[in-house]
Amino acid sequence: MEYLKEQDPIPDLRVSIGPLNLANPVMTASGTFGYGREFEDLMDLQSLGAIIVKGISLSPRAGNPPPRIVETACGMLNAIGLQNVGVDRFLAEKMEYLGKLKVPIIVNILGESLDEYRVITEKLSASPAISAIEVNISCPNVTKGGVAFGTDPAMAAAVTRAVKERSVVPVIVKLSPNVTDITEIAKAVEAAGADAVSLINTLIGMAINLKKRRPQLANVIGGLSGPAIKPIALRMVYQVARAISVPVIGIGGIATAEDALEFMLAGATAVQVGTANFVNPRASEEVVWGISEYVLAEKLPSVREMIGALEIC
Ligand SMILES: Cc1cc2nc3c(=O)[nH]c(=O)nc-3n(C[C@H](O)[C@H](O)[C@H](O)COP(=O)(O)O)c2cc1C
Repeated sequence: MEYLKEQDPIPDLRVSIGPLNLANPVMTASGTFGYGREFEDLMDLQSLGAIIVKGISLSPRAGNPPPRIVETACGMLNAIGLQNVGVDRFLAEKMEYLGKLKVPIIVNILGESLDEYRVITEKLSASPAISAIEVNISCPNVTKGGVAFGTDPAMAAAVTRAVKERSVVPVIVKLSPNVTDITEIAKAVEAAGADAVSLINTLIGMAINLKKRRPQLANVIGGLSGPAIKPIALRMVYQVARAISVPVIGIGGIATAEDALEFMLAGATAVQVGTANFVNPRASEEVVWGISEYVLAEKLPSVREMIGALEIC
C-alpha cells in the first residue's frame, strides 16, 4: 500500500458480503470498468476489494447505436444497451487473465428470460475463478411483455431463485431505483435467497438538444449516473439497510472516500465506484487509500465500525 508510510499500522478494512470475504469494501461498478484489464496500466487492480465486470448476457450484444453517452449536470446519461461479448467468449477470452489476479472477481449478469439467467449462471458456475455473481434485474423480461424484472417484487424474486438454484457462489441482486418502494423489491429478493443486494442502478432520464430539437441519445432515454444521483442512492441504501438483514452494497455517485464512508454510515457494508472511473481511472484505488487514512486518523479498530453507524437524533 504505497499511500501508507512504513511506520503506519495496517488498517483493518476487511468486510464480508455474506460468505464472501473482501480485503476492503471498494469494488468497481459494472459497465464502468470494462473487463478489468483495460485499467491494468492505470492502477493497481489488486488494491481493490473486488472487481465487478461489465454485464454479461447469454449471446453477444452489439448495444445501441451512437450517440449513447451524454454529459449532464453533475452526471451522465448512458444508453450503451448492455454491449458485451456474451458468456461463452467472456469465459474463453477474459477469465484467464482475471483468474490470475489476487482479487475476487464478480460477474454481473443480465437476461431477458428466467431461462437465460439460469443458463448464464450454470456456465459461470463452471469457472472456479469467479467469486460471486451480481444479477442485474433492470432488464426487460421478453416473455412478460418487456416489463423490467426489477420493478416487480414477484419477478425479482423469481430471477433470484433461478440464479440461486444454479449458482455455486454467493448471489448479489442489483436493485433498480426506478420503482416506487425499493424496500419491497429488496425484501422479495432477500426472501428468495439473495446473499446480498447492491443499489442503485441508473435512474431513467433524458436529455434534449434544443438547437436540433432532437434527443441527445439515439435511444432517446438512458440511465443517469454520477454525483447527481448520490442523494437518491444514499436515501435508498439507508431505507433498504433498515428493511433487510443481508448485506447492502452502496452505489451511486461515489467518487471519493468521503462518499464511500457516507454510504457505509447509511448502512452499506461495501461500495462500488462507477461513473467516477471515467473521470479519474484511479478513483476506485484512491477511495481505498482514503478509507485507510480515515480509519487510521479516527483510530477505528476496523472499517466495519462505520456500517450503519449513522447517528440520528
Ligand atoms: C456506461 C455505463 C454502463 C453500465 N453498465 C452496467 C451493466 O452492464 N450492468 C449493471 O448492472 N449496471 C451497469 N451500469 C450501472 C452502474 O454499475 C452503476 O450502478 C450506476 O452507474 C450508478 O453508479 P455511479 O453513479 O457511481 O456510476 C452502467 C453504468 C454506466 C455509466
